Formats: sequence, C-alpha cells, structure tokens
Amino acid sequence: MKVFIFGAALRKDSLNQELARQAARILGEVSGISVDLAAFSEFPMPVYDGDLEESSGMPEGAEKLAARIAAADAIVISAPEYNGSISGALKNAIDWVSRSDNNPFDGRPLLLMGASPGALGAVRGLWHTRVPFEAMGSLVYPELFGLPRAHQAFADIGFADAKTESRLKELLQDFSKFALKLKN
Ligand SMILES: Cc1cc2nc3c(=O)[nH]c(=O)nc-3n(C[C@H](O)[C@H](O)[C@H](O)COP(=O)(O)O)c2cc1C
Repeated sequence: MKVFIFGAALRKDSLNQELARQAARILGEVSGISVDLAAFSEFPMPVYDGDLEESSGMPEGAEKLAARIAAADAIVISAPEYNGSISGALKNAIDWVSRSDNNPFDGRPLLLMGASPGALGAVRGLWHTRVPFEAMGSLVYPELFGLPRAHQAFADIGFADAKTESRLKELLQDFSKFALKLKN
C-alpha cells in the first residue's frame, strides 16, 4: 500500500512539514507500506481563476499534485490552522485538483493532522479542512491528530515527548488498517 504524505504549508521551516516527515518515518517502518513524502512547495499554483483555467488549463503544480494523489492508495496531510480554519493555500490546491478529469480524492482514505505553536494543535482548523475533502469524496479518517506547542515538540530524532510518538504511532497503525481494508 502506498501512502502519499505532505505538510500543507509553504515555508521552509514549516512545523506541519516536520510533522508530515515524522509520520512518514513512522509509516515507513510498517511492513507492506511504501511512503511518498512531498513538500507542498513542489506544487506551486496561482489562485484559482476560471478564465485562467479556460485559457491555459490546469497549472502544472496542480497536475503534479493530482498525479501524486492518484498514484497513492491513501493520503496523510498535516495542515496548518489559519484563523480557526483551513489555510487559503490548501483550499486553493483542493479547488484546482478538483478540476482534474479524474477526481483523485474520490474514494481515497485520508488522515488529517495539524501542528501549531498554540495550545489546541490546529484541531479547530482540521474540522473545517475535512469539509472540502469530504465534498470531493475522500474517506476522511474519523480521528484527527493535533500537535500543540509544536515549536517545542520535536527532538533531533522524533518527538521530545515519547507519549507524542506513541500517540501518533498508534493512530497511524489504526489508519493503515482502515486504508488497507478499503484497498482489499
Ligand atoms: C494567517 C495566520 C493565521 C493563523 N491562525 C492560527 C489559528 O487560528 N490557530 C493557531 O493555532 N495558529 C494560527 N496561526 C499560527 C500557525 O499555527 C503557525 O504560524 C504555524 O507555524 C503555521 O504552520 P507551519 O509552521 O506549518 O507553517 C496562524 C498563522 C497565520 C500566518
């Protein structure tokens, strides 16, 4: 089973990309799973504009993102919370990808995680983030993973707190089983 993972933030020191990297490390140790870890910056795209779509089609970044999703059996995204909701960059990417001929979100299991320096670990935003994915047919895993105080949560290898590592490991194992059941 192939799992596509990325942190949905563009800055180079993104906490969400670091959380995605940790999830990729943990999932990479599960037998039978291959991981495709991407950076969101690999998929640059303008703000959605119907005229631009009509004149030039899908931007290359959106095409590439759609292809990476389509090549996977399951998706894990770590998404930042902006003003209690989904970030504009992620919503824009969903909107562009939703315009591709074959909607790659449809029927694919998706685990949503979020990292924030705040006390709630981006979970409020994840409740909004799941909405467009569900509208596109993604099978959003019922449990969400929030990493609070994320600027202090990472160690040289893994997490500063062993409980965070085991909490994420358990969730990723459960999500893998869920995704595998859907694949078979
Ligand atoms: C426009 C904007 C809005 C934000 N709103 C929230 C918020 O509602 N809740 C929160 O916990 N953090 C909020 N933050 C802080 C982000 O969680 C923080 O910048 C985080 O590091 C962003 O993710 P990244 O590290 O992956 O880039 C906001 C940041 C920005 C730039």
